[in-house]
Amino acid sequence: MGKGFFISFEGGEGAGKTTQIKKLAQYLESKGHDVVTTREPGGTPAADALWQCFIDQKGHEWDVLAQTLLVFTTRRLHVEERLKKDLAAGKVIICDRFTDSTRVYQGIAGGLGLERVEQIKQMCIGDFEPDLTFIFDIDPKIGLARSERRNNGKDTFEEKHIEFHEMLRNGYRDIANTHQDRCFVIDASQSIEAVEEEIRDICLKNLI
Ligand code: TMP
Repeated sequence: MGKGFFISFEGGEGAGKTTQIKKLAQYLESKGHDVVTTREPGGTPAADALWQCFIDQKGHEWDVLAQTLLVFTTRRLHVEERLKKDLAAGKVIICDRFTDSTRVYQGIAGGLGLERVEQIKQMCIGDFEPDLTFIFDIDPKIGLARSERRNNGKDTFEEKHIEFHEMLRNGYRDIANTHQDRCFVIDASQSIEAVEEEIRDICLKNLI
């Protein structure tokens, strides 16, 4: 069994990741890949339960180190119990959010700092990183309007001020610059079809 392949989707609120994850999974399956989709924070029953606790207890208002420790607890469970096994079985994993979300939400916009995030990351999951990351870039005003329509109200980090969401956008662009080996910035204001095509092209060059 060959080594699998790990793809993550990243971006601010309402960038359209969910739709594109479904489309890419179907496409890669049609090409004969064994595909699994998953999401963070969560991905195992215990990790999902911890994230539900974060939501119920308004975790977005907690001290940022506490937020970071909780998401890395969920991430370690996900990596150890699920992702490493799927990769060893040769699967293509498509994950909605991964460590880049912590780098940007807690490290940059939340103010913990990237160095602290990297220290905690090393302790929890070592060098485990996606092979390929799509960063969905969109004006936060458009993204927030989309996700509010979807959720019928505000959810966790969505209720933060617009400056927080601008920091997320700039943070993601910085991450893309410092991790050019795996990160591709996608203009998420394009049509669903145009985004889908761009993602397929990048996958064809990197995976198939
Ligand atoms: P989502 O279901 O819309 O992706 O919501 C997950 C929320 O959690 C989103 O606001 C981003 C946030 N988040 C963090 O703050 N840190 C993390 O490490 C992850 C994975 C998500």
